[in-house]
Amino acid sequence: MHKNFYITTPIYYPSAKPHMGHAYSSIIADFFARFKRIDGFDVNFLTGTDEHGLKIQRAAEKKGLETLKFCDEISKTFRDLSKTLNLTNTDFIRTTEDRHKNSVQNLWKELEKNDDIYLSKYSGWYSVSDEAFYTDDEIEEIDGKKLSKTSKSLVEWMDEESYFFRLSKWEKPLLDYYEKNPEFISPKARRNEVISFVKGGLKDLSVSRKSFSWGIPVPSNKEHVIYVWLDALTNYISALNYPDVNNQLLKKYWPANVHLIGKDILRFHAVYWPAFLLAAKIPLPKKVYGHGWILSGEEKMSKSKGNILDPIEIINQYGLDPLRYYLIKEVSFGNDGNISQDRLEDCINSDLANNYGNLCQRVTAFAIKNCEGKIPKDIEFNEDDLVILDKFKDNINLIRKKIDELDLNFYIEFIVNSLFEANKYFNDQEPWKKKDSIKRLNTIVFTTLEIVRKISFLLYPIIPQSSLNALKIFSINENQIDYSTIENHNYLSKLDTINKIDILFKKIEKLND
Ligand code: MSP
Repeated sequence: MHKNFYITTPIYYPSAKPHMGHAYSSIIADFFARFKRIDGFDVNFLTGTDEHGLKIQRAAEKKGLETLKFCDEISKTFRDLSKTLNLTNTDFIRTTEDRHKNSVQNLWKELEKNDDIYLSKYSGWYSVSDEAFYTDDEIEEIDGKKLSKTSKSLVEWMDEESYFFRLSKWEKPLLDYYEKNPEFISPKARRNEVISFVKGGLKDLSVSRKSFSWGIPVPSNKEHVIYVWLDALTNYISALNYPDVNNQLLKKYWPANVHLIGKDILRFHAVYWPAFLLAAKIPLPKKVYGHGWILSGEEKMSKSKGNILDPIEIINQYGLDPLRYYLIKEVSFGNDGNISQDRLEDCINSDLANNYGNLCQRVTAFAIKNCEGKIPKDIEFNEDDLVILDKFKDNINLIRKKIDELDLNFYIEFIVNSLFEANKYFNDQEPWKKKDSIKRLNTIVFTTLEIVRKISFLLYPIIPQSSLNALKIFSINENQIDYSTIENHNYLSKLDTINKIDILFKKIEKLND
């Protein structure tokens, strides 16, 4: 049976160029996509841009550009960023594409047919920046300005005819669903937030706007455009050719395994989206994961303070893989995390250059000198070798389970510990003192190389290019990476030559060192 896996990032507003928060969501999604692909799944990995609504219309007006032209330009910077981040997304959707517009209008018709939509009037607060409605309780006044308490974005009063979705009707079914599917919203703290929000009572949701035109028209009333969140959320199925239920993509990949999002947009994904789907009788995604935010300290971000946030600048300066590794390691997944250039440099120097890069170089150089540049064949494992090798064998199924739980923190910790233990093993075993016991020397080299291989396989989803550079030691290519071989202690015995490789990571000279 084929195993399928469908993961999505949020689709980004092309209102300004991408920043570190966007890069973070995408890199994490890419990590899971890569792991699953290597582990034998058929992976669909979707990202894209969310191009309708007043926020985008106003951003285009400000630049004096025609709206679609403006979107074309900025959407391209997100598409380019996907390449720069070495993402393995299988599709990139734009909500201005016809395939998407058709899907949204079909979903709308379905909701209307099931009597989940009615025409009325909306009077209340609206934040264009969040594209969200707020009640009086959710608003505060600071310096004479009305702001959303949670996002601190400016709200404006809205008074217009609007279609409504009967969200209130879905309060109980949603609560039942959360109860029956405790894994649906993660992490747990966010699940509790959502449940208490829904328990607080759901009001019907305004799902159309009349006072501007940049959006997908309501099929039965062209004076209205569909609310941008109903439009945007549908991307997850429009990319699978919804409503064509007989098509292969929808059959194969829906319901999605994971919608990976930032915690700021949890309500839309864990309340509105499942309610729309329930109303349209479409199965619900298996998991919505709300990750934390990337912060730049309590201080405002600025280059002089070393609080970095432009992913492109960082990649140009340090390379992509260090950034991928750093974000995955340093921001505890699920929580907010501070990032700084200083910590990034420490991370490159200690984890990547010393613990990983240096280990690869040392064992390779030693093997080239002492084992004729060949994988040693005459070996015999002792207890010390087996202890370290067995760690991988004993943990690979646990790693798979943790990946299914999206426990990225467990994964990175396992790697950090493994690197530490691998270095310790090589130092403690002192193969350079075993020149008169060649079998023992061979076995230590073989064991260390096996560990380098296993760690490089596991590092592949985090730092794909550097892992492949390291695997050149064994002439192993991308297609040969396979997690079912992690358990095998003798994988390398079928290989022959050991190749010298280029330095994997350059150490950063730090001024204060
Ligand atoms: N267009 C909507 C999403 C629609 S999904 C159907 C949107 N776009 S956004 O561009 O404003 O933000 C998208 C995502 O970027 C956020 O949910 C979050 O995942 C990520 N981030 C934006 N700023 C962030 C940080 N500072 N830190 C981490 N991620 C944050 O919302």
